[in-house]
Amino acid sequence: MGTEKVAVVTGSNKGIGLAIVRGLCKQFNGTVYLTARDEVRGREAVKSLEQEGLSPKFHQLDTDSESSIKKFREHIANNHGGIDVLINNAAMAFKNSATEPFSYQAETTLRVNFFDTLNVCEELFPLLRKHARVVHMSSYAGHLTRINGKEPEAGIIRSKLSSPTLTKNELAGLVKSFLSLAAEGKHFEAGWPNTAYGVSKVAVSALGRIQQREFDEKRPNDDIVINNVHPGLVDTDMTSHSGPMTPDEGAQAPLYAALLPPCVKEPRGGYIWMDKTTVDWIKGPLPIKYF
Ligand SMILES: NC(=O)c1ccc[n+]([C@@H]2O[C@H](COP(=O)([O-])OP(=O)(O)OC[C@H]3O[C@@H](n4cnc5c(N)ncnc54)[C@H](OP(=O)(O)O)[C@@H]3O)[C@@H](O)[C@H]2O)c1
Repeated sequence: MGTEKVAVVTGSNKGIGLAIVRGLCKQFNGTVYLTARDEVRGREAVKSLEQEGLSPKFHQLDTDSESSIKKFREHIANNHGGIDVLINNAAMAFKNSATEPFSYQAETTLRVNFFDTLNVCEELFPLLRKHARVVHMSSYAGHLTRINGKEPEAGIIRSKLSSPTLTKNELAGLVKSFLSLAAEGKHFEAGWPNTAYGVSKVAVSALGRIQQREFDEKRPNDDIVINNVHPGLVDTDMTSHSGPMTPDEGAQAPLYAALLPPCVKEPRGGYIWMDKTTVDWIKGPLPIKYF
């Protein structure tokens, strides 16, 4: 087994994930895994980077499949023994024009963006080595103030989500309560916003804060750092190519969080804006500039 460092990017056959792999191939001293749920799309993406003179490795990883996550974990454990950088990039968003009922959009979006990310973490975190860096791709939509349904109920949800004692189970319970309310069309009056994508990214951001606390408690000497990142508004399939930033520009803040030096004091469990500044996730203010 090699002692070389290992970086993994989920959902990296296109968009910002592919650009992050490109950046890691240039800046990270170790093996970089481009992963994709679709083997053909993944291998084509690897080929495109090889044509640029870069050499990522490929492995299939469908974050929506427990068996795929387990196979990937075994591959990494058997061939490398650990992970030094994990970027949870894979996600989806329904288009504004989507005609599926909101409850269906909510179930699907929260499963893929929140519960699948949680599953990936539960499987891969035991492989994280000392000084590992983890990045959750959040969004401007993932800031706590985006929980802006009816008040005062929204304020109560915000204080639960930002509680310094919130557990992963409690967070999953809050997400499930959003899904039950969405199924009845009662989520807004109960305080939740009318955006499933926003709820998914707020939940992922709350998860990152909890996970940093857990690392600090359970592995206090291992210097494991996790941060949530808003990459900017980027020209990808997800935005129907409406974002003004290129994927390479959108990769800059995630790369900064992935390559934070050993024993860094801040940011840890933070919410990093696209310009690499840390924004207060609870109070804001959000920078006016989104891109
Ligand atoms: N673009 C923006 O302006 C923006 C802004 C804020 C945050 N973000 C976040 O940045 C990240 C990347 O977004 P993007 O704009 O690059 O989106 P994108 O172009 O739509 O790419 C999403 C990637 O995730 C993959 N994916 C989806 N479901 C998956 C699954 N079950 N297993 C494995 N991979 C899966 C997709 O694979 P397939 O090709 O197989 O579908 C694709 O590679 C996301 O987390 C997004 O929420 C983006």
